[in-house]
Amino acid sequence: MRKSVHHDRISAQYQSVSSRYDLVKNLPYAFAERETLCAALPDLTGRSVLDVACGTGYYSRLFKRLGADRVVGVDIERSMVDCAREIEEEDPLGISYEVHDAAGLPVLGEFDVVTPIWAFVHAKDAAEYDGMVARCARNLAPGGTMVALVSNPDIDLERMTAYPRYGLSITPKEKHGDLQVITIGMDVDPPVSFDGFFWPAGITEAAMAKAGLTGIRRRPDLAPGHVDGVNPKGYWTEFVENPPFALYTAERP
Ligand SMILES: C[S@@+](CC[C@H](N)C(=O)[O-])C[C@H]1O[C@@H](n2cnc3c(N)ncnc32)[C@H](O)[C@@H]1O
Repeated sequence: MRKSVHHDRISAQYQSVSSRYDLVKNLPYAFAERETLCAALPDLTGRSVLDVACGTGYYSRLFKRLGADRVVGVDIERSMVDCAREIEEEDPLGISYEVHDAAGLPVLGEFDVVTPIWAFVHAKDAAEYDGMVARCARNLAPGGTMVALVSNPDIDLERMTAYPRYGLSITPKEKHGDLQVITIGMDVDPPVSFDGFFWPAGITEAAMAKAGLTGIRRRPDLAPGHVDGVNPKGYWTEFVENPPFALYTAERP
């Protein structure tokens, strides 16, 4: 697989953190990510799932444990896939992993659910963003659901002072037109950091519509216990009001 300079850079930064990547899933912000995602997933019992940009397979394993019959994880970065495969070897769940660039993703099958989680944000430009969404959509069975997690297009970059409480820091860097480049720092030991991208409002919905998907919806950002007030009063308020991610679902007719 030939990668562009952009994807080489992205691969390199994930390569440097692959062996520690799963640690970030223990940070508070990841609890909110999981809560938001799980609330939007259809019932996975007996279903097939294609997890695009699966990284070390954290969510692929969750989907299998939630009852999915067949789970395939794909990622552009071989070292992330190698970590996922090692975990699969140690504790087999029946998940298979392949190295693929989402921008050139072939049709791997007709999946009931396709989950590009932090995938589209890595596109090098808007045309590639559209292309990634379209290629993911082509892997859906008729009636299948795409569940896509991307950066929050409405984020207020001035209002992130509370983020360290959730194990996260976001530092704005340069802008390329509408595309805001940021550095994300994750509070694990030793710290993990990589570049991220905030895309403009409307791009995900437009790309999904162009890919022929219907029922496109942005789902609410949630955090564990926030609504019921189980966590200390106000703990999640700033996160839920200005979350770093947005979750969209859509169906293939
Ligand atoms: C923030 S991690 C998310 C991993 C996983 N989805 C999760 O949430 O734990 C982003 C992943 O996207 C992968 N990635 C970046 N660009 C990609 C592309 N063009 N095609 C496939 N995977 C890509 C990276 O290698 C990395 O594993």
